[in-house]
Amino acid sequence: MRLVVSNINVGLWTAAYVKNTLQRFAPTVDKPFVLGLPTGGTVLDMYALLRSFIKERLLSFQHVITFNMDEYIGLPQEHPQSYHSYMRRNLFEHIAMPAEQIFIPNGQAADLKQECERYEHEIAQAGGVQLFIGGVGCNGHIAFNEPGTPFNSRTHVTDLAPSTLEANARFFQNDMTRVPRQAITVGIGTLLDSKELLFIASGVKKAAAVAHCVCQEPNVNWPISALNLHPHATLLADLDACVLLCGEAKNKLDVARQKNPYAEQWEILLEEPT
Ligand code: GLP
Repeated sequence: MRLVVSNINVGLWTAAYVKNTLQRFAPTVDKPFVLGLPTGGTVLDMYALLRSFIKERLLSFQHVITFNMDEYIGLPQEHPQSYHSYMRRNLFEHIAMPAEQIFIPNGQAADLKQECERYEHEIAQAGGVQLFIGGVGCNGHIAFNEPGTPFNSRTHVTDLAPSTLEANARFFQNDMTRVPRQAITVGIGTLLDSKELLFIASGVKKAAAVAHCVCQEPNVNWPISALNLHPHATLLADLDACVLLCGEAKNKLDVARQKNPYAEQWEILLEEPT
């Protein structure tokens, strides 16, 4: 895993990364790019910049297939806080992309187990995900894989951790009891099957998750630490999210910042975990 510490807004960094990756890949109708997408506050700026790239014709999603990571169970798709609504609002209603290229788990399916299997099948049919982008929960969750989820898990129904209900209450009039208690999420194994992973952490609230991922051995109690098991994974963090780094990572970041304090980013190469 590589750690990139961004000195600019992580959302903007990520949008530029998506643009460069898509331009290099040059998707066509016969060779579409399969992109895994997240929701959450951290990536709002990424969507804003992607929208303007598309509007200015610097980027096209014409031959892109998208898979979202997760969706609440029991929330109608039209509810403003459903991830279907989030994606429509922040991306899909602004770009010309055929509905059949957009995949989001259906949290209202009558048979949720079957829906999870269908989702895995759709990903496989699309040839697997090329690049999966994700945020990180304060408790280290990735997608809605809460602490304790096995690293080989596939798309499944999950109970949200109390700390996640608390963190997401801000989207539900700050009332924890209004936050849906369950979600469908791609599994950690599903994510690890992607060709590339890019996870983003911003702010001091994510500092514990970043430190556990970077400074400790992979551990199911911190799902983000599964990134260490992937051959092509990047953790992108801003300086606030790095305040709890320790040991080798902290030393390397301090040295890199002293050498080049105004750099846009500092890339920290770490020893492989044993
Ligand atoms: C939700 C999503 C996660 C996301 C997390 C972080 O819990 N299911 O995929 O990583 O939010 O959100 P934020 O960026 O708002 O901190």
